[in-house]
Amino acid sequence: MVTWRERDFLAEQDCTADELKDLLDHAAWLKAQRRAVGATQVRQRLVGRQLAVVLAKTSTRTRLAFEVAMRELGGGVSVLDATTSQLGHKESIADTARVLAGMVDAIAYRGGDQAEVEELARYADVPVFNALSDQWHPTQMLADFLTMTEFVSGPPRYAFVGDARSNMGNSLLMMGAIMGADVRLVAPRALWPTDEVRQAAELRAQASGATLLLTEDVASGVADVDFVHTDVWVSMGEAREVWDERVNLLRPYRVDTTVMNQTGKRSTKFMHCLPAYHDQQTTVGRQIAAAYGLADGVEVSNEVFESANSVVFQQAENRLHTIKALLDRTLGDP
Ligand code: CP
Ligand code: NVA
Repeated sequence: MVTWRERDFLAEQDCTADELKDLLDHAAWLKAQRRAVGATQVRQRLVGRQLAVVLAKTSTRTRLAFEVAMRELGGGVSVLDATTSQLGHKESIADTARVLAGMVDAIAYRGGDQAEVEELARYADVPVFNALSDQWHPTQMLADFLTMTEFVSGPPRYAFVGDARSNMGNSLLMMGAIMGADVRLVAPRALWPTDEVRQAAELRAQASGATLLLTEDVASGVADVDFVHTDVWVSMGEAREVWDERVNLLRPYRVDTTVMNQTGKRSTKFMHCLPAYHDQQTTVGRQIAAAYGLADGVEVSNEVFESANSVVFQQAENRLHTIKALLDRTLGDP
């Protein structure tokens, strides 16, 4: 029997396929119910419960999804960020964990190394959710899988093209391995996940029947997939200096119309966890365009990002429904 009550959600690999499927099914139901009766009519199952969202890095979607989900379920939510709290500079993770656990019923934490959120979970005797670490982005995986199941039935066939040893590459590999998907990581070898991550994913794939492919070749990597994912080439917390090296490595892996056509399918959807550098409407987008001549988008061309096949905003909305499912299952009455 699947039970999420009072559990942490730190990484995909801590979960069974049935447990993840339970969250996805519940999220689909919550989304349909919200559509049918309106957000204000959804039963408020978390009245009196409190969530702290602790951000050691910036966030738009994840923060808002936790805040709105908690409020729509009738609970309370407080956001602490690194610039306005004592976290990190004046107070350790272990002390912060014990202070928060005395006041709230659950904690969502976005930080750097995965060891941080694991330490928080060790010291806090309330559920802790990983709102992104350098290695994993498990709540994003719930939204990505919900989105893919809205277009195809059964295990999805997808490629991630780009910086495959980042949190998104690792998580799409591991989540697909657990869920029995056909997963391709398409990236230069220097940016493949570590041996440890690959071996752990292979073990899960043996149990689920997933097929995992790591390749440097874009054309064969994306052939026949239903979804092409990408992510920024330089993640939060990385030094600005890595842009040079990253652009050199990843320029052939930029998702443009040629890459989308190499899938051989007109129906293939484009996905991105966001935020994306797809035009020059951001400071970084403008700087990269000027420095490297990528005027029409960095990791993805503006044409693909704005195309009818792009489902990035549906994917973003699904952060809300999936995080709501996580909160409801872990904190709600059984
Ligand atoms: N996709 C994602 O995690 O977005 P934010 O960084 O805005 O939370
Ligand atoms: N890889 C990106 C994901 C952002 C949601 C980062 O860590 O910055």
